[in-house]
Formats: sequence, structure tokens, C-alpha cells
Amino acid sequence: MVKAGKVLKLIVPETTENYDHASMRRILIIGASGQTGSRFHPLFPEDQIVSPPHADLDLANENNLRNFLRENSFQTILIPGGMTDPAQCEKDPQRAFDINSRGPGIIAEEAQGAHVIYFSTDYVFNGKEGPYSLEAIPDPISVYGRSKLEGEKRIQRGKWTIIRTCHIFSVDPGNNFLMHVTRNLLEKRPVYAYQDQYSTPTEVESLVEETAKIVREERVGLLHLSGKETCSRYEFAMEVSSLLGVEGVVPTFCPEDGRPRKVGLHSHLPSWKEGVRKHVAQIKENGLPKART
Ligand SMILES: NC(=O)c1ccc[n+]([C@@H]2O[C@H](COP(=O)([O-])OP(=O)(O)OC[C@H]3O[C@@H](n4cnc5c(N)ncnc54)[C@H](OP(=O)(O)O)[C@@H]3O)[C@@H](O)[C@H]2O)c1
Repeated sequence: MVKAGKVLKLIVPETTENYDHASMRRILIIGASGQTGSRFHPLFPEDQIVSPPHADLDLANENNLRNFLRENSFQTILIPGGMTDPAQCEKDPQRAFDINSRGPGIIAEEAQGAHVIYFSTDYVFNGKEGPYSLEAIPDPISVYGRSKLEGEKRIQRGKWTIIRTCHIFSVDPGNNFLMHVTRNLLEKRPVYAYQDQYSTPTEVESLVEETAKIVREERVGLLHLSGKETCSRYEFAMEVSSLLGVEGVVPTFCPEDGRPRKVGLHSHLPSWKEGVRKHVAQIKENGLPKART
């Protein structure tokens, strides 16, 4: 175990000609191995990015977080990390709250003036009448949603931004819904897709680019960032199937397992269809992505 407080994986741009060190930001990313967190590095070529792996900086470890943040200071702390699988959260609520709520709360306490940006979810709503506006009242019905709403409350001290997003998709070694559908169809397995669960899917590059602007402009407060159009999981899977030219999507209904049905957010990022077209074209050209190194 690396000692808490040590600056790990310090990534500094190689070209420093005419480089204005005074304007360089130090940015901490917690969750930099994930679908969203792994895409920030190229967007901050003039800044210092510090991105410790989960094993070295653990949202569930209070002492580790406090020591690290007391010994290192940052202008910006991005927290795309978290316990992001709703089913795992249902199985281990204590851990879900430790990672998604208490850890971010400790970061807000120890931020030393840094701008803290926390990623939250449309699952803070009950899913009866989405997509949701910024004025809508949260009413989570799952452990994941409750733990993220509690994280939202705890992050609100000092300089903070909450970015609620939903159904993030990308070409990624992980198992987001686009990759789940694509892998199964290409490997000739049926894909069961809910025709009664709706959201406003979010293409990851548009999300991280908008987040990078928020960092640079130091925008604070609560924001919704997702694609601007709604679809069901079934419609999404059918679009992937049609672009791949492979059949095998089977419509089904969402189980009564407490997951919100009509979620999604009112927001302005590009429509999911554009993103799906771009990513499926990429997969057709390059094949399925390899595991992250
Ligand atoms: N994916 C979605 O559709 C979606 C929808 C709405 C909101 N969000 C929110 O958006 C954010 C980004 O989602 P994502 O899909 O990009 O996430 P992801 O791919 O699941 O990545 C999660 C990241 O969190 C890290 N992590 C997990 N436990 C940790 C811990 N105890 N301490 C430190 N790091 C830990 C993981 O590291 P390891 O892999 O090393 O464990 C990974 O880097 C999350 O906050 C999520 O709640 C996501």
C-alpha cells in the first residue's frame, strides 16, 4: 500500500515551451480508471493531473482521504469515482454510502478551497415522470440513488458543483449498455432490453468536454448534463442493432426490483443517436476495445 499523502501518477505535459506555470492548475481525479474519469487527461494539456488508483486513494477510507488532502493541495477535485452499479449498492448499502456519500463529504471538508466537482445521477428521482428538470424534487427509490443524494448534500460546502448525469455510454472496456448490447450481438447472443425504462442517454465525450469547461470557468452549483433526447433501453438497443446490421434484440419489461422507470434529465448535450452512430462506426472500424492498461 502506498503511503497516503504521496502524490501518485503525476502527469505533466511533455512540451513545456512557453509554458505559463503560474496558470497551471493542479487537478485531482478520483475514479480515473472509469468510463468517465479516464477521459479527462487530454482535456487539460496545460495542467497537472494527479490520478491515484483506487487502491491508493480510497473513497471508503476516511484516514486515507484526510491525510492525502491535508498533505496535497489542488485547485480542482473531480469525483467521477463511486460505487456505480445499482445492484451492488442494493447488496451492500453500507459500502454504497461509505463510497458515494461519506467519502465525498470528507473531500468537501478537507478541500482547502479547491473547487470540488461531484458526479451524481438521475436515480436521485423516483422515475415516475422523467426526464427531470433542475427544479424537480429528488425522491430516490434505490440504495444507489439515496447514497448519491446524500453525497450531493455532503458535498455542498466551500466551492462545489454537482453534475447529475445519466446512462453514460461510450466505446469502453467496461460494461456500459452500449458495450453490453454490442458485445452480445456481435457474439450472437440475444439482448433483452427494457421497453418500459426511459432515460436521456449521455455520450461520454460530450459529458467530459462540458465538464472541462465547468472546470475552466469555475462554474458552481447544481447542473444537469445529459443527452437532450429520451429513449427506452429497447429503442437504444434497436438502434445499435440496426447500425451493426445484426439482429437479436428482444423487448422485455423492467422487473419489479425498485429501479426507477422514467428517468433522464432535461439537458442540452447532443442526442444519443449521434453518439451511438459515432461509437458504432468506431467499433466497426477498430473492433471491440481491449481492457484498459
Ligand atoms: N454510468 C452511468 O450510466 C452513470 C449514470 C448516472 C450517473 N453516473 C455517475 O457518473 C460517475 C461516473 O460514472 P462511470 O460510469 O464513469 O463510472 P465507472 O466507469 O463505474 O467508474 C467508477 C470509478 O470509481 C472508482 N472507484 C470505485 N470505488 C472506489 C473507491 N472506494 N475509492 C476510489 N475510487 C473508487 C473505480 O475504480 P476501480 O475500477 O479501480 O474500482 C472507477 O475508476 C459516477 O459518479 C456515477 O455514479 C454514472
